Amino acid sequence: MIPLIKTFMPPKNELMPELEKVLYSGYVAQGDSVDKFEEELSKYIGNSHCLSVNSGSSALHIALILAGVKEGDEVISTALTAEPTNTVIKQTGAKIVWADIDLKTGNISPEDVERKITQKTKAIVVVDYAGVPVDIKKFQDIEKKYGIPIIEDGAHAFGASFDGEKIGNHFNYTIFSFQGIKHLTTIDGGVLCIKNNDEFEKAKLIRWFGISKSLTRKENDISIQGYKYHMNNVNATVGLVQLKKIDSVIGRYIDNGEYYDKALKGISELEILEYYSGSQPSYWLYTVKVKRKHHFIKALAEKGIMASDLHKRNDLHTLFKESDTSLPNLDQFENEWVHIPCGWWVTNKEREYIVNVIKEGW
Ligand SMILES: Cc1ncc(COP(=O)(O)O)c(C=O)c1O
Repeated sequence: MIPLIKTFMPPKNELMPELEKVLYSGYVAQGDSVDKFEEELSKYIGNSHCLSVNSGSSALHIALILAGVKEGDEVISTALTAEPTNTVIKQTGAKIVWADIDLKTGNISPEDVERKITQKTKAIVVVDYAGVPVDIKKFQDIEKKYGIPIIEDGAHAFGASFDGEKIGNHFNYTIFSFQGIKHLTTIDGGVLCIKNNDEFEKAKLIRWFGISKSLTRKENDISIQGYKYHMNNVNATVGLVQLKKIDSVIGRYIDNGEYYDKALKGISELEILEYYSGSQPSYWLYTVKVKRKHHFIKALAEKGIMASDLHKRNDLHTLFKESDTSLPNLDQFENEWVHIPCGWWVTNKEREYIVNVIKEGW
């Protein structure tokens, strides 16, 4: 079966010596490897304020705290995402207000977000679902017009870009996940990219119990609620070796994605997604809209290809019941969207095979 998801791991002879070195170095907690990983990440993303953490969820939580989100506030979000985007908002005590999606892309609709803004809106969380950047230009305008911070959940969009600049530079806060199945994995981990330097310093405190690492314990006076969200040297070492390979790994996702963009055009009962002008997706998953989705999934499975609508729309979970609202575009999208294999492991021969199987019909 050609899988939908597969973890990339650098060759043993490159990863294992580095891992062995750190494991027996006498220091595996947060230290030099973490600093180095942040330095390399900053170079790759092009943002000097990259704070590594132990998960994308922790990064999101810190972003929400920095945005000032508290119990009783409202946060606008999308239901078409992996659950952590929204369980973490819930963790702050804020109420989630769902905005509908743009049918052309599956991403949160800027127009519906604007309709949902109230006096209580403290933040807006936008998700680059499946690696396709949201309508960055319109959301930047919204951030400016209302003064409400936007948190970009780029968990699926590492290596994607807009107007030639990598995702991680366009809003006050952007998060990425380095969990086990993402473009880049540190086994578990994440990063928060921040625009403002003072907030970056505050985020460092929140990451580690409210304690400043640049002072001794005795000199420290905790004045802010912090958490145990830091990354350690072992995970950072995996990340450093992964980063050396990232251009070729993400290049392969993009090459396969762009191949499908061309090869799947004009097939009856199948629609490909649109991308917002200026954006370069990193195609963590390749999404198509098809008629009779369950037949499509079955037909591909019979030919050894995994296709799946990976995520449950989040508004159906009991936890989010208080946010119930009508989302007509998502209702329509839900009947049709499905992902096909697109990642670094899909060879040219396999992607041609996948297209031919789809062309045979379902
Ligand atoms: C869209 C999205 N946001 C946030 C997260 C949370 O990341 P992590 O699993 O690293 O906490 C994930 C990961 O599953 C995700 O897919």
